[in-house]
This record gives sequence, structure tokens and C-alpha cells, in this order.
Amino acid sequence: MSEVRPDGESRNLQLIGERIRSRRTTKLFLKQKVSKTLVRDAIEVARWAPNHHLTEPWHFYMLGEEMIADSIELIRTIVADTKNEKVAAFKAKSAAAIPGWLVVTCQKSDDELRQQEDYASCACAVQNLTLYLSEAGVACKWTTGLVTRDSRFFDLLGFDQDDAIVVGLIWYGYPKVLPTQNRKSVGEILTETR
Ligand SMILES: Cc1cc2nc3c(=O)[nH]c(=O)nc-3n(C[C@H](O)[C@H](O)[C@H](O)COP(=O)(O)O)c2cc1C
Repeated sequence: MSEVRPDGESRNLQLIGERIRSRRTTKLFLKQKVSKTLVRDAIEVARWAPNHHLTEPWHFYMLGEEMIADSIELIRTIVADTKNEKVAAFKAKSAAAIPGWLVVTCQKSDDELRQQEDYASCACAVQNLTLYLSEAGVACKWTTGLVTRDSRFFDLLGFDQDDAIVVGLIWYGYPKVLPTQNRKSVGEILTETR
């Protein structure tokens, strides 16, 4: 437990704030692979996310080379069907340049509230994961593109669409560049009530 100090003065507090602020979504990655051990460690940390009724609703799929190749072909097919061959070739080429692929799913529930809470937990888990990786110099892009909602993708991964939804396809790797981002001021998003 950290020492109690006046607001914001603890070194750890400043550090964690800076770490959360500096995590960035990145689209461009170096070719260098991220070790499976690091990703496993990130998943170990991710699962400590809060989850109501301790449902632990998440599942993580660390994609191997063959599955990545099949996913890229599926992306090419989907984009060719929804746009055109030229855009499909571009998307497939971009996808082929991504060194790490992780899919996070959330178990489905017939209970609307439970489904919402479970999805919230999975989102927290993804944030834990990306923060942990960010600390190791690995950047991510959380995507919810068409492929993540396509039943052919679920078939590839081997789960039934009645059992789970894809929370995100997490592309990861060592970043070529880290973009900058802005947020609204706290004054704009905070209402202090009586
Ligand atoms: C649920 C979710 C889905 C997202 N899907 C996409 C996506 O499909 N394509 C994309 O470029 N970025 C996607 N993002 C990343 C956001 O665009 C990104 O978080 C946002 O631009 C803010 O940048 P930052 O993460 O660096 O703060 C997604 C983020 C979340 C939380």
C-alpha cells in the first residue's frame, strides 16, 4: 500500500497517471515480433479486471502464423465484397504488416444487464492488457472492423456465435511511430453535484 500523501503528490500516483495518459493506439508497427511470454504475462494481468459476479467473461486467442494468414485472406474477401479489389488488396497488405494478432471475446448472456456488465469487464481487461504492453514498449490497435463481426472469423477461431462476441481484434507490435492525442478538459466532462 502506498504512503498516504496530499493529493497527487505521491510519485507512484504521478507515474501511473503518466503511464495511462501515454498509451497510444498505433497503426504502424516494426517487423520485430513480440514474445509470446510477454503477451501471456499481459493476459495474466488483464484478467484482474473487475467483473460482476466473478463471471470472468473473457477469452483470449493469440493467433499463430496460419490463423493470421487465413484472417488476412478473410479481410481481403470481405473488403472485396463490400468495396472493391483495389481497396481489398491495400487492406490485406496493411494487415500483413502487423506482427501480432490477439482476439478478445466476451461470453454471451441472455440476460441484458449481465451481457452489458460482462462486456464492460472485457473492455477493462483490454485496457489492462494494453497498458501492460505499453509499459513494455509494445503498442496496440483495438479494432472492431467488419472481420470481427463476420461468422467466418468465428469459425476460424472455433467458437459458436451463440456463445461469444468479439470485443476486439487487438493488433500489437513495436511501434514505428506513436501519434499524439488530445482529450476534452476535465471541466467539460465533470459535473460535481451537491
Ligand atoms: C471499442 C473500440 C473499438 C475501436 N475500433 C477501432 C477501429 O475499428 N479502427 C481504428 O482505427 N481504431 C479503433 N479503435 C481505437 C480508437 O480509434 C482510439 O482509441 C482513439 O482514436 C483514441 O486514441 P488512443 O487510443 O491513442 O487514445 C477502437 C477503440 C475502441 C475502444
